[in-house]
Amino acid sequence: MKQRLLNKKAAVTGASSGIGQATALCLAKEGADVALIARDMERLTETAEQVRSLGRKAIVIQGDITKQEQVKAAVEAAICGLGGLDIFHCNAGIYLRCPAKDLRMEQIRKLMEVDFFGCLHCVYAVLPYFLAQGSGTIVTTCSMDGKKGVPPDAAYVAAKFAMNGFFQVLRQELRGSGIHIATIFPSRMDTPQIAHVDCPAITPKGDPSLVARAVVRAIVKKKKELMVPSFPCHLLAWADAISPSLSDWLIRVSRLSGTVNEIEPHNEAK
Ligand SMILES: NC(=O)c1ccc[n+]([C@@H]2O[C@H](COP(=O)([O-])OP(=O)(O)OC[C@H]3O[C@@H](n4cnc5c(N)ncnc54)[C@H](OP(=O)(O)O)[C@@H]3O)[C@@H](O)[C@H]2O)c1
Repeated sequence: MKQRLLNKKAAVTGASSGIGQATALCLAKEGADVALIARDMERLTETAEQVRSLGRKAIVIQGDITKQEQVKAAVEAAICGLGGLDIFHCNAGIYLRCPAKDLRMEQIRKLMEVDFFGCLHCVYAVLPYFLAQGSGTIVTTCSMDGKKGVPPDAAYVAAKFAMNGFFQVLRQELRGSGIHIATIFPSRMDTPQIAHVDCPAITPKGDPSLVARAVVRAIVKKKKELMVPSFPCHLLAWADAISPSLSDWLIRVSRLSGTVNEIEPHNEAK
């Protein structure tokens, strides 16, 4: 197989689990060296071992994306440890299911703090470096929840809509700079983040490797936006463009919200 990212240097946030881990492995299979960023060193080290077993360099960097100084230090460590940087994947995030009427302001703030501001810390840490070298790709894991709100995800939806809007503007402003901005919109994927959510057969959880492959495709083909899986997500987006009532109805009949199979939502306590 031809390695399409041979000797590229990539950094992935949230590489200790789920989509970030799958993406780190996919990037390594494509020939990239990878800096792995998250808080859990043990799980990051496991990912690093898997990357190394694919013959690529892996470095592990502990960092909390809600702390701007830690993110800056992580980006510097990635550049120093890999000898440069070509790709940054803003992927780390948390999820919360709660009907909007029951949400507390601190829960909404926490979602914004991790999923939106955490992502921006990464963008502002890596952008000066990419601007100076006149090249680089920033790819972000948004969500279909950033295109069409699905209940009961109001706080998460708000953070992902904010992210989507920011990246839409950023990519237009950076046109001609040599920097490529890509946004990935996954539907529900089978990761620890939504392990407590049961999805019906009509809208099953996908494998996180689908998102990882979309990330690589976006980098290689310079795609601006990719939805995963493509057809059902495009159907929902088209339905929403035609009529919000139609997309609301599609969400109801496909039972896209899923149901909860445990009381404590994953990640809420983190
Ligand atoms: N699963 C889905 O259905 C789905 C669908 C659409 C979009 N997404 C998005 O995909 C991304 C990855 O989610 P996932 O499904 O792979 O979830 P996951 O398996 O729970 O992984 C989340 C990752 O984010 C990291 N993380 C969380 N808070 C962090 C913080 N403050 N600082 C640094 N790292 C942090 C976690 O690492 P540590 O705990 O080690 O820090 C972990 O590696 C998220 O942005 C999520 O919103 C997921």
